Amino acid sequence: MYNSIIKGLGKYVPERIVTNHELTEYMDTSDEWIRERTGIEQRHWVQEGDGNTTASMGYKAAKQAIERAGLTPEDIDFIVFATLSPDYFFPGSGVLLQDMLGVPDIGALDVRNQCSGFIYALNVADKFIKTGTYKNILVVGSEVHSEGLDLSTRGRAVSVIFGDGAGAVVLSRTDDRNKGILAGNLHSQGKYALELAVKDPGSRMPVKKVVERVNTEKDYIDYYPYMNGNFVFKNAVVRFEEAIMEALNDAGLSKEDLDMFIPHQANLRISQFIQKRMGLRDDQVWNNIQKYGNTTAASIPIALTEAWESGAIKEGDLVVLAAFGSGFTWGASLIRW
Ligand code: COA
Repeated sequence: MYNSIIKGLGKYVPERIVTNHELTEYMDTSDEWIRERTGIEQRHWVQEGDGNTTASMGYKAAKQAIERAGLTPEDIDFIVFATLSPDYFFPGSGVLLQDMLGVPDIGALDVRNQCSGFIYALNVADKFIKTGTYKNILVVGSEVHSEGLDLSTRGRAVSVIFGDGAGAVVLSRTDDRNKGILAGNLHSQGKYALELAVKDPGSRMPVKKVVERVNTEKDYIDYYPYMNGNFVFKNAVVRFEEAIMEALNDAGLSKEDLDMFIPHQANLRISQFIQKRMGLRDDQVWNNIQKYGNTTAASIPIALTEAWESGAIKEGDLVVLAAFGSGFTWGASLIRW
């Protein structure tokens, strides 16, 4: 068995910055409400004509990650692409990235586990590396949320939270058993599927029926995201900590051994709550939701890349990544850097 290390990291966010103040032009909200409840000050959204799609932003982040790994696209053996906002209903965005990279016919797997998408993607990639199937895997999280949000006051509880962006890592084989991904876990609880969801269109409500409803009903159509915010919050704070402790236990380590916690950027209040419960200092938790909002599958690789770029993660550090989101799904990855 081999081990897998993160060899290169990259990120990309669209140029357009949307402040809380700008949102007040579209809906009844305020900078104060958004900051107090979520910590968010601004987010990046794609704009008409900038050419950004989920796959193309993933490509920009991936290109940077590959270069920083000292590799070329030809060295990549497999792609795992996490997103809830793919370019098309099908095929997935992973195959579009394969084409953009101009590489031979390597496999491309799409992962649809929403805010836990990157953790799911990383865990899957880790297994392919550990079993010796592949040497270098591109693991990408990318989202274009802004095109699917209800920007009227009706959608404000959800729409103020989400941002667009992409992050990527190159996961590579190593023989060093003490380095890289030490432990990981994945969980789900489908009974809460509709507590945070975009329902339509789907096989239960096909496009033709949605079109009929749009034409006949003025009512709220379920193709905008719905979130039971309070319930999500309460579950998130419990599951984050559980997943982190499970990973630490599996590796025979304790929370005192942790150097850095990179949470999925769901809500600053969630991160702060977990930080307190785990007894971590401010410099041991990476928060950037203030600048980017919640970018779902992209949030962990963007945060991880930023933390690494700033020098906050050094060789030998014990880093834990953890996420919770729609599904419900949750999980963690423990990494010796
Ligand atoms: N601006 C102003 N007011 C808003 C608003 C907005 N953007 N969104 C909702 N409100 C209003 C509500 O209408 C409600 O008004 P009312 O009391 O008159 O009915 C009031 O603010 C409180 O709404 P509520 O939904 O109870 O707020 P909350 O304190 O639960 O905060 C969240 C909402 C979404 C910030 C919070 O529940 C949360 O962060 N949940 C977790 C979300 C999350 O992490 N999601 C991602 C998971 S991966």
